[in-house]
Amino acid sequence: MELTNRTILITGGASGIGFALAKQLVAHGNKVIVCGRSRDNLNKVKEHLPALETIRCDINNPNDLNELVSLLAGRYPQLDTLINNAGVQNQLNLTGGQTTDHAVTHEIRTNLISHISITNRLYTLISSNRNPAIIFVGSALAIVPKYSVPIYSAAKAGLHNYVQSLRHQAKKDNVQIIEVFPDVVDTPMTHHRQNESKMDSGLFAVQVLTQLEKGNIEIFTGRTLFLSVLHRLAPAHALKIINRSLDG
Ligand SMILES: NC(=O)c1ccc[n+]([C@@H]2O[C@H](COP(=O)([O-])OP(=O)(O)OC[C@H]3O[C@@H](n4cnc5c(N)ncnc54)[C@H](OP(=O)(O)O)[C@@H]3O)[C@@H](O)[C@H]2O)c1
Repeated sequence: MELTNRTILITGGASGIGFALAKQLVAHGNKVIVCGRSRDNLNKVKEHLPALETIRCDINNPNDLNELVSLLAGRYPQLDTLINNAGVQNQLNLTGGQTTDHAVTHEIRTNLISHISITNRLYTLISSNRNPAIIFVGSALAIVPKYSVPIYSAAKAGLHNYVQSLRHQAKKDNVQIIEVFPDVVDTPMTHHRQNESKMDSGLFAVQVLTQLEKGNIEIFTGRTLFLSVLHRLAPAHALKIINRSLDG
């Protein structure tokens, strides 16, 4: 996949993995637009990297999504790449009677439904441009669930399943559908997990871009390829490992 002269939207691009990808993609000569809920974070990243375009948007809010889409269609009709990256991860006890519908819905909406909603809304525009691509930041927990983050794991598993159908249907339009499986990356999402081995977000972004350039459609970083193979050969062992250490 060519990685210059693209026009790219990254959801949740004002922190962590999204911002690390934004920095690398700007350095490669692409126009990068990032969106997120926090105006403060968007202003901070804009100050740090003035070439970025920032748009405030809660991907779970249909009005925000509609505004985002019409703004992009008007200002960036050449949009050819969407990186569905925004996400949240919550530790939930499923057996204590405390888990609310609201908490469950929010986590599934953010990690799964809203990615589908944005993709539905932007597919026609993106597929009308040259070398279109839609990239999903998934998780190894889609393959091997982590028991302490059950709804997150289930949402990422749903995303992994959806991505495969979308990839098949998008073939006729030559839209590349790519899924990324990060190792544990040092970001605000993993900040609370001290004493763990975490990948630097800049290094992670370089690894992703290298594999995108090679044309990989499933991008495994760090230990996630090993985990995926192990899961095929010895699923119980993979479950043991993920629930002991590797838990992005
Ligand atoms: N870090 C890891 O080890 C790891 C491992 C595997 C997968 N991942 C995945 O990587 C992606 C990025 O995570 P990260 O680690 O970089 O964490 P992060 O820094 O917390 O990034 C998550 C981003 O999503 C945005 N976001 C959350 N809810 C949103 C909403 N409703 N609307 C718009 N934006 C929203 C947040 O911005 P606002 O709060 O300002 O909206 C934030 O910028 C996620 O999909 C995550 O599941 C991370």
